[in-house]
Amino acid sequence: MLVCVCKRVSDAMIKEAYEQGIQSVEALGMHHGLGQCCGRCVPYTQKMLDAMSPDAAVAAVQMWSPSGAGLSAPIWNPGQ
Ligand code: FES
Repeated sequence: MLVCVCKRVSDAMIKEAYEQGIQSVEALGMHHGLGQCCGRCVPYTQKMLDAMSPDAAVAAVQMWSPSGAGLSAPIWNPGQ
């Protein structure tokens, strides 16, 4: 799916860049030109980046714990 129409940047390109360490809208702008024209792609791109962050994975696990009260400690901590 094309995310940035102006610079023809797809969601796959954003995911690939994220895996290579390009993890901010500003960095994607420098790398692919994303957000450097009309800027309409910036909010969606930020949501994508937020969803791919390790913190989002931990929050999802906590939200879906069986007790519904979250976990006392994350099962997986990507920072370790
Ligand atoms: S859609 Fe990305 S800058 Fe216009």
